[in-house]
Amino acid sequence: MARINDNFLKLKAGYLFPEIARRVNAFCEANPSANVIKLGIGDVTEPLPPAIVHAMHSAVDEMANRDTFRGYGPEQGYAFLRDAISENDYKSRGAEIESDEIFVSDGSKCDSGNILDIFGTDNKVAITDPVYPVYVDTNVMSGRTGKAGDNGRFEGLVYLPVTEENNFVAALPDQRVDLIYLCYPNNPTGTVASRETLQMWVDYAKTNDSIIFFDAAYEAFITDDSIPHSIYEIEGARDVAIEFRSFSKNAGFTGTRCAFTVVPKSLHGKTATGESKPIHALWNRRHCTKFNGVSYPIQRSAAAAYSPEGKQQIAELIKFYMTNAQLLREGLEQAGITVYGGVNAPYVWLKTPQGASSWEFFDQLLEKSHLVGTPGSGFGASGEGYFRLSAFNSRANVEEAVKRVQLLVG
Ligand code: MLT
Repeated sequence: MARINDNFLKLKAGYLFPEIARRVNAFCEANPSANVIKLGIGDVTEPLPPAIVHAMHSAVDEMANRDTFRGYGPEQGYAFLRDAISENDYKSRGAEIESDEIFVSDGSKCDSGNILDIFGTDNKVAITDPVYPVYVDTNVMSGRTGKAGDNGRFEGLVYLPVTEENNFVAALPDQRVDLIYLCYPNNPTGTVASRETLQMWVDYAKTNDSIIFFDAAYEAFITDDSIPHSIYEIEGARDVAIEFRSFSKNAGFTGTRCAFTVVPKSLHGKTATGESKPIHALWNRRHCTKFNGVSYPIQRSAAAAYSPEGKQQIAELIKFYMTNAQLLREGLEQAGITVYGGVNAPYVWLKTPQGASSWEFFDQLLEKSHLVGTPGSGFGASGEGYFRLSAFNSRANVEEAVKRVQLLVG
């Protein structure tokens, strides 16, 4: 019999979002007439912007013509997209990231898990808590942790709590760590990191020879001009950070799939014998071996996000979701609920009313109000007593959801 990867057995039975979907489906089957509104998973609801759709159609037409048909593209992505990313997302914000430091992919979830392939299993890993569960689960799968304790925390990981007690700013680890996951604007808390906070992390990484995995999938939702959109806006970050970005949430690509990862050429790690090696070459090697590139029509449509029409249409889309976030925030506050996030991020992070546990509140909301959110404890032990609502939905559903919460807790 073939030997399995036993590390998978250390994981909780189901990944958070499929587990929520399972519970919701069971509820819907038992209550077929219930009008359930889902503000759980952060999945976009509005159609792709017209400029993007137009570019996708044109690219499909090119693929239908012998003269313009394309087979395999460059694994790292077409130059037209990488150049647009380098110019618009980085150079225009004063961050010197070159096109050949950008690797186009089919998702930040995949990349933030796959990146572990190129790092040794004996690295000490720090994560904030609560956190996007992919960071934890992929470390468990690859054997970088021990077993989970009663509170769900895995032996071997360094957890950095982010709660209202520390204003959702993680303290630096009290021991040396090799790899640090940071996500800003933050999923799930919807909070952001100031320039000073990010500088503190970059300085820590420099001093300790650590590498930061910076997930900036929600940067487009930043409304406060003083907040950096990229870690590379911070002095010295090129030497200590990898950044993950996505078209999922800003341009509506959750079903279309396009993202990218930035690995600066100046970033180094060390071999078992202490020799310094560039990380870029390793990621390039991994990417070329295990990935054949994102399809041409999708890359063309992603590039259209940077056209003048694309930029304007995306700005409208973001404004739409952020108005939803504002309605959620204000409506919950009126109901006496303490709310965080939702100002520079499409997630609202609330304290569960009357001290209910996160899953108790999930059940109450589902059974009494026919609303779905995400229990904070699903993101980590420090998320217990909190709950996440996503602003990704229609206006009518968000307004209805607010009324239902007010009715439940008001
Ligand atoms: C979330 O709800 O946290 C996100 O949709 C998850 C993801 O982007 O994979």
